[in-house]
Amino acid sequence: MKNIIIVSFALLFAMNICAAKKSKVTPLQFNPDNGVKASLTMTDGKVVNYTAYTKLYFVTNVEDSTYQYMNIFVPEGATHQSPMFLRTYVGGYMASEAGYPQAQDASGRALAEGYVLVIPGSRGRTSTVKQGKKTIYTGRAPKALLDLKAAVRYLRHFDNVIPGNAEKIITDGTSAGGAMSSLLGATGNHPSYAPLLKAMGAADERDDVFASVCYCPITDLDHADMAYEWLYVNTDSRKSLSASKQALSQELAAQFPSYINSLGLKKADGTALNAENYLDYIKQILIKSAQEAKDAGADIPDSLGFSFSSMAAFQAPVNGQSSRPGMGNNRAEGMPGGERRPSVGRPGGGRKPSAGMPPMRISGRKMVGEYITDLDMGKYLNYVVSTQPLKGVPAFDSYNVDGAAASGENGEFGNAQGSDVNFTSWSAEKAGTAVSEEVKENVRLLNPMCFIGDGVSSVAPHWYIRHGARDRDTAFSVSINLAAKLQNSGKDVNFKLPWNRPHSGDYALNELFAWMAEIVK
Ligand code: DHB
Repeated sequence: MKNIIIVSFALLFAMNICAAKKSKVTPLQFNPDNGVKASLTMTDGKVVNYTAYTKLYFVTNVEDSTYQYMNIFVPEGATHQSPMFLRTYVGGYMASEAGYPQAQDASGRALAEGYVLVIPGSRGRTSTVKQGKKTIYTGRAPKALLDLKAAVRYLRHFDNVIPGNAEKIITDGTSAGGAMSSLLGATGNHPSYAPLLKAMGAADERDDVFASVCYCPITDLDHADMAYEWLYVNTDSRKSLSASKQALSQELAAQFPSYINSLGLKKADGTALNAENYLDYIKQILIKSAQEAKDAGADIPDSLGFSFSSMAAFQAPVNGQSSRPGMGNNRAEGMPGGERRPSVGRPGGGRKPSAGMPPMRISGRKMVGEYITDLDMGKYLNYVVSTQPLKGVPAFDSYNVDGAAASGENGEFGNAQGSDVNFTSWSAEKAGTAVSEEVKENVRLLNPMCFIGDGVSSVAPHWYIRHGARDRDTAFSVSINLAAKLQNSGKDVNFKLPWNRPHSGDYALNELFAWMAEIVK
């Protein structure tokens, strides 16, 4: 009897181990016969028929079954040559469940244009699993990126059976999702992630992608605070803060010039992009954006800080010329909106035609021949801030700095127990702590700037980067530097600060899809 009991216990124990193993380690699978037919009605009434393959777990060691799978949607007519559009819905560095095509955004549009659509889930800073009685945070940096990289590897692993060409994967995301898209593009096959992916049971495949679409990427987090204060320190909003916050803002702002200079970036003409000319560089990009909108019929009020010169095409910066002497560059060196020399431009933007110039023609709302010649950055930044209040000081690594609460980013770099941590040495020092080696490494693994041009990463050849011209969620320089670094390393980069756009994504889809059609040709 005793023996029977012992054998039974042994059997039960063995079965338990098997059951535990079975639920944790499941081989990667894709069954082409498991597709379900469905359709999506686009906003214009067009119906797109597709086959959905859902709940495709992309790692063998599934830690969180709510998020670590993806859905694939194959539109009618797609072949093994069709490009693939991988849309991540990560926002706020939160977890994101694999979803379904949306008629209103780029996912539905991709299906309608014949792309194989991939929507992966990924863990995030607040996602947890229960281990016994304990709650474990499983999605802190760099887990979301690892999940997305595992999804890319899965697509390569089953490239012969899944319709679509895994060598033509275009990633798309907005904000924290834009950061993820930029990381997918910047960190392809990088050995730094290999052991982590192996431990998760990701396919042993390449994870580089063909192109990355990044809407307002909230990235370069370890330099985001200094960039933010450098840009906004002189706005009325910052000047209305307490003396202690203003002092912090100024300290952070003062760190930005040496960071910019350390990047060694070049403008398109090969000259240095550095702290001396950086503000002017932003200004020229904004002028170009506003001019493009103006040419398309937008009304751009003088009150935002623009100067206009009717018929002055030859002297308009947007046409590659320098501003009229006295009109431009009338700010002192230093920070945006710093001490100014008195402006010699006409108050109110000067729309009077210059002597000897033919009068401008007006066709509808569009004034043909009217050019933006300059922008008062101080005024413009006050306008941006008037449309949405700034973040606090510091904007990102705020935890315990002068009594500030933790930001989402402080959580993103926290540990499995759910801690908030500082991730920059400056904030850590203010908060009376230090950044651990582990956190430093996670910060690096989450910064595309650390991988572009390192000679090791397989960086995507094509990039589409957008940051709205009035998006204050992070400084313009985050996207500007990303674009410049990519351009400098020979990548094809389509970059804009689209006029009057707040923090948002998947807009101007005609423009995006025309660009994608060109690169996949
Ligand atoms: C997002 C926005 C933020 O301002 C931020 O700091 C992080 C993420 C987002 O919308 O994803």
